[in-house]
Amino acid sequence: MNLFTPIKLREMELKNRIVLSPMQQYSARNGVPGNWHLVHLGSRAVGGAALILTECTAVSQEGLATLSDVGIWNDEQKNAWKNIVDFVHEQDAKIGMQLWHSGGKGSLKHPNERMKPLTKEEGAWTVKSSSAQDFNGVLAEELTVSEIQELKVKFVEGALRAVDAGFDTVELHAGHGYLFHQFYSAVINKRNDEYGGSFHNRIRFLVETVQDVRKAIPESMPLLVRISAVDYIESEEGWTLENSIALAEILKENGVDFITASGGGFTNVNKDLVYPGYQIPFSKAIKEQTGILTGAVGMITEAKQANEIIVNSDADLVVVAREHLRDPYFAIHSAKELEIETDLPWQYKRAF
Ligand SMILES: Cc1cc2nc3c(=O)[nH]c(=O)nc-3n(C[C@H](O)[C@H](O)[C@H](O)COP(=O)(O)O)c2cc1C
Repeated sequence: MNLFTPIKLREMELKNRIVLSPMQQYSARNGVPGNWHLVHLGSRAVGGAALILTECTAVSQEGLATLSDVGIWNDEQKNAWKNIVDFVHEQDAKIGMQLWHSGGKGSLKHPNERMKPLTKEEGAWTVKSSSAQDFNGVLAEELTVSEIQELKVKFVEGALRAVDAGFDTVELHAGHGYLFHQFYSAVINKRNDEYGGSFHNRIRFLVETVQDVRKAIPESMPLLVRISAVDYIESEEGWTLENSIALAEILKENGVDFITASGGGFTNVNKDLVYPGYQIPFSKAIKEQTGILTGAVGMITEAKQANEIIVNSDADLVVVAREHLRDPYFAIHSAKELEIETDLPWQYKRAF
């Protein structure tokens, strides 16, 4: 087994173990993906990655972080995604949509304006989270229980639109300090009702959404979840790897097929904790202790390193973000370096 051994998640067959990690491009208008998204995602499919994941895609307008993020709450967006899906499929790659709600981390300016809070004139909206909190200058209100129920419906509607657009899978973004993470981490969740307090109450929103989405999408379609395996916060309230393992077990029982083990999202991560492959121990522990398929992410930049992760069974897929920005052909280049034969786009054969 190596980086180029195919793998099946339910009926989705991946030709190798390399995934384009979701990366916000802040290049959309009204949540509609455009030419940039087609070329960004399409190039990595041409470059040989087996699974292309979209950037976090909001299930409702209030779920955006900035007004330049993409969405899947209307049919105009769905139709624009379809074009991208078709192109990726023509490259013999699979594509998944990362479904997302930013919760309290919304109503922000573009990164080129340093993601400061939007003003009213610029279109600021009321953000909501598990609990009333100040998210770096944006004051979030606490979601009511009936609003939580409505949000679950938004995720199901988003998933169904993704299915309609031809996506092969959907991934719930439950990490990086966004809405699901704002529920399961006690750092943010201070509720006293059935969605706060104990571990089981804090994971309830994510688990119930998983149950609803699983019921809605085809049986043959894998369901993926990205979590923050740890908060990287030294606090009694911080979310731990042990918590993640317990969560992964429950997600698996509820029909989740694959978990990418990322981390953080509420604060800047201490630089000492970030080094090549720094989050591999999370994917390894979750895989070993629950038997669920996992993805490793974080500073994976080299063919040999990526291959070792698979050979050592530290994870089932290697999820590559920034190296894919530097090199859209990371997968093809990796095959060359590892001296493994792989398919090339016929248009480019004369170059490789
Ligand atoms: C520009 C950029 C945008 C990102 N957007 C997302 C996103 O939409 N969803 C997500 O789960 N992670 C997002 N991430 C995190 C990456 O997917 C990945 O977890 C992180 O960059 C670490 O992997 P790397 O060292 O390979 O870059 C983003 C990262 C970057 C650099």
